[in-house]
Amino acid sequence: MDHNRKLYIETVGCQMNMLDSELVVAALRRHGYELTSDVQEADTVLFNTCSVREHAEHKIYSQLGRLKYSKRRRPKQVIGVLGCMAQKDQELIFQRAPHVDLVVGTGQLSEVPRMIDEARAGSRRAVAVSLSRKEGTRSEVSESFQSYDPLREPAMRPSPFQAFVRIMIGCDKFCTYCVVPMTRGPEQSRPPADIAAEVRVLAEQGVKEITLLGQTVNSYKYTENGSLVRLSELLARIHDTPGIDRIKFVTNYPRDMTDDLLFAVRDLPKVGRYLHVPAQSGSNDVLKIMKRGYTVEQYLEMHDRIREVMRDCAVSSDFIVGHPGETEAEFEKSIDLVRRCRFKNSFIFKYSPRPGTKAFDNYPDDIPEDVKRRRNNVLLDIQNAISEEDNASFIGREVEVLVEGPSKSSRKADEEPSANGPIQLVGRTPCDRIVVFDGNPRLAGTLTNVAVFDCTQTTLIGSIVTREVQHGSGSLLPILA
Ligand code: SAH
Ligand code: SF4
Ligand code: F3S
Repeated sequence: MDHNRKLYIETVGCQMNMLDSELVVAALRRHGYELTSDVQEADTVLFNTCSVREHAEHKIYSQLGRLKYSKRRRPKQVIGVLGCMAQKDQELIFQRAPHVDLVVGTGQLSEVPRMIDEARAGSRRAVAVSLSRKEGTRSEVSESFQSYDPLREPAMRPSPFQAFVRIMIGCDKFCTYCVVPMTRGPEQSRPPADIAAEVRVLAEQGVKEITLLGQTVNSYKYTENGSLVRLSELLARIHDTPGIDRIKFVTNYPRDMTDDLLFAVRDLPKVGRYLHVPAQSGSNDVLKIMKRGYTVEQYLEMHDRIREVMRDCAVSSDFIVGHPGETEAEFEKSIDLVRRCRFKNSFIFKYSPRPGTKAFDNYPDDIPEDVKRRRNNVLLDIQNAISEEDNASFIGREVEVLVEGPSKSSRKADEEPSANGPIQLVGRTPCDRIVVFDGNPRLAGTLTNVAVFDCTQTTLIGSIVTREVQHGSGSLLPILA
């Protein structure tokens, strides 16, 4: 076993990757590693990578480029590329960055500690990846992606009170533009009992908010003793875990937004009324080329159903602009959809051609960069205006906030936190809106009522509601300050 090794890890991509990094760090801590934020000081440098857009890969390759020189000075430094780019590019990574020692795919992360030891002992350039989707039967490929989630590492979480729990891996939807079915393999759901046990352990560690993760999380299905457990049932099973105050789940696939799930969200008080259901485009022709599997009319039907079941449920979306062949008229249909659905927020991406996908093979990336950029900005401006109007409707209302801790600005302003004075805190409502307010940092991890008095496009601004209680003498004392 190594002692006092220093690990630098950088993570990009989605929440799945954040969770994967948490598990890798937990395993390495057991092998005597400590985290460092200084890459120069590290004897092991890991990048947990994302391939969903070219830009994410570029950033990693340029970081790797910079490390070439530090490796010359520190030949013992072990450099590893983990995750989606490792699975997608495999040996190609050594060609582009010859000083990399390890390439480890999403399904082999449990092998990282052993592979680092071997690299340090002198064997160079190890690759561990899963089978590609055509290299075996479905069950062989599935098995090669299977990873398990045994170890947790609190220091790597968004906050000590929030944790991700994987309920499924992979994706079988094969949208034509997307690499995820390649990098994460076939869709596989975890047994409900394992998930419930993990939630209990996290609750015992002080976690208050659980976010269930899956690429298409509402496609979750697991057959147990002959009967099918779906996401609605899973939510019900973990709902009463002592200590857990809130449950969220991302990302939803429009076609699998069934009524049983909407009723579960409505009826289970700890489940946030927030659904991230990417539409991707407002044009039927574009949706068809994307092979998203639904029409705009079906998306709207789903959206209306959400509204019927829960008027106050926040819905957010993703859009891709500048998909091959997207005309101005087709782009404008995405604007129409944003206006019609009034999403809480939308993540908007410029189409990025990904080698290995159907779109890459079949459609030239024919929308010029400046057109993509303009469409991105136009759609974002319209969405942001809607988000601000929506946030403004909260002014004068009281919201329940799970306090996460000091806000970004107070963390910056106050490098050395002074004793216990009030500072700006940040948290979220059950419908996933960000709220900032002044308060005592000790409130982190609690549910607190906040009265909203102002807002921006992204944030509600408020002050803590201090309930006044009658004391024996008749004086009024605030109980929450
Ligand atoms: N599983 C999720 C999304 C995973 S990727 C889902 O299906 O909704 C996150 C987002 O990245 C997608 O929703 C999509 O909007 C965007 N995206 C995926 N591939 C892309 C590509 N090739 N170019 C640009 N954006 C892409
Ligand atoms: Fe990619 Fe589509 Fe699967 Fe989402 S549903 S991960 S966009 S293939
Ligand atoms: Fe990126 Fe892989 Fe997530 S490609 S978005 S890190 S599943």
